[in-house]
Amino acid sequence: MNPPCYVTPHPSSIRGPEKISFVVIGAGLIGPRHAAHVLDRPDCELFAIVDHSAKGPLVAQQLNTMLFQNLDDLFAHCDANLLNYPAAAIVATPNHTHVRMGMQLAARGIHMLMEKPLAPSPSECKSLIAYCHAKNVTLLVGHHRRFNPYIIATKDHLYKLGQLVAIQGTWTLCKPPAYFLEKPWRSSTALGGGTLLINLIHDLDLLQYLLGPIEKVYAELLTKQRTDSGHHDLVDEGAALTLRFENGCCGTFICSDNVTSPFLFEAGTGENPTVPFNDSIAGFYRIFGSHGTLSVPDLKLYHQEHELHQESSLQLPSPSPSPNVKDSPIHRMNDFKKPQPFALQLEHFVNLITGAETAVKCSGDDALRALLCIEAVVKSIETGLPQYVDKIDQIDLDFDLMNQFDV
Ligand SMILES: NC(=O)c1ccc[n+]([C@@H]2O[C@H](COP(=O)([O-])OP(=O)(O)OC[C@H]3O[C@@H](n4cnc5c(N)ncnc54)[C@H](O)[C@@H]3O)[C@@H](O)[C@H]2O)c1
Repeated sequence: MNPPCYVTPHPSSIRGPEKISFVVIGAGLIGPRHAAHVLDRPDCELFAIVDHSAKGPLVAQQLNTMLFQNLDDLFAHCDANLLNYPAAAIVATPNHTHVRMGMQLAARGIHMLMEKPLAPSPSECKSLIAYCHAKNVTLLVGHHRRFNPYIIATKDHLYKLGQLVAIQGTWTLCKPPAYFLEKPWRSSTALGGGTLLINLIHDLDLLQYLLGPIEKVYAELLTKQRTDSGHHDLVDEGAALTLRFENGCCGTFICSDNVTSPFLFEAGTGENPTVPFNDSIAGFYRIFGSHGTLSVPDLKLYHQEHELHQESSLQLPSPSPSPNVKDSPIHRMNDFKKPQPFALQLEHFVNLITGAETAVKCSGDDALRALLCIEAVVKSIETGLPQYVDKIDQIDLDFDLMNQFDV
């Protein structure tokens, strides 16, 4: 066992035992952001971070917490010092590591907020969900955009569109070479790299959150432009999709991480400090209904002149033949200038652990449904044909995998 390399007094001895103690696994791009939110909460404490890279000691020092190279070392440290394991973990390591980490945590009864995608394959994903359930462990998946105020407002106002008919969306930007060169897993398909699994999965989760399950997809791979030999392999740069939802809605979506464009969720909402906020962006999503169209994130509702519904009434007037379409803002943009979806996601996780909330806002099954859509996208690209999205009950459990982790 490697000893923790930066040891501070265990905070529970200072602040009282009622705090929820956390370990954050992964000190790369997103892990420290999660850890900062843990530190912001008076009801939580950061027990340690886990990371095996050279960056770990500096991050641990900045966060004033212990560092372990791996989870086994953390567990051994707790056992040797008769300490409780942390009650909760946030897993922010590369995609291919999630299942093993999740199983190790669940085996010890540690609740987890797991970054997306939950697992590389649907079978591993379903097995991890079942294992968490068997161990009575809370599993929340980090599709944090569900906690973004722009999305909450969008969902709240969808009824104003009448019958939902179609959606159009984009997630398009240009990732710089450094993004790939500094973290090789991001340019390895085998390790979960590629924008479909890293980025599109967020949008497909949101589209399903807003409109219900996607039933069928057709995808065309965008022509790859990266040729840099520093990459392991030339991971996908995105795809153009057509979608059909179970409720009959249809949609189109373009995802690219190699075009010069500001039309993406992060730029339009300003929620990610690494992507410049652009408050003039309109319509990275457009949702079309029989009585109106809602543009996101500008939250303009386009409707016939006399047809703006009252919040209190779900009664819809009949569509008018008038061509005079008006736009009405349903929120002032200033309301959302600093959205904090990670903080809201953590608050929800804490509430699930304490029992203050019981309905998981992004469950393992939600994450599995998003992963199944990505699987269908990949199959469509491979076959050149539209693909139905598998249902959760069509996926087999991997009992061998689950049996490996019991302690
Ligand atoms: N929700 C979001 O908006 C969002 C944004 C970015 C990344 N992510 C997800 O978060 C995860 C991490 O992404 P990232 O960009 O921060 O990755 P990263 O490569 O920047 O950081 C991952 C860290 O994990 C460490 N690590 C890897 N394997 C480990 C192991 N076995 N034990 C201990 N430490 C290990 C690495 O040393 C690295 O510091 C991915 O699953 C990604 O999809 C989510």
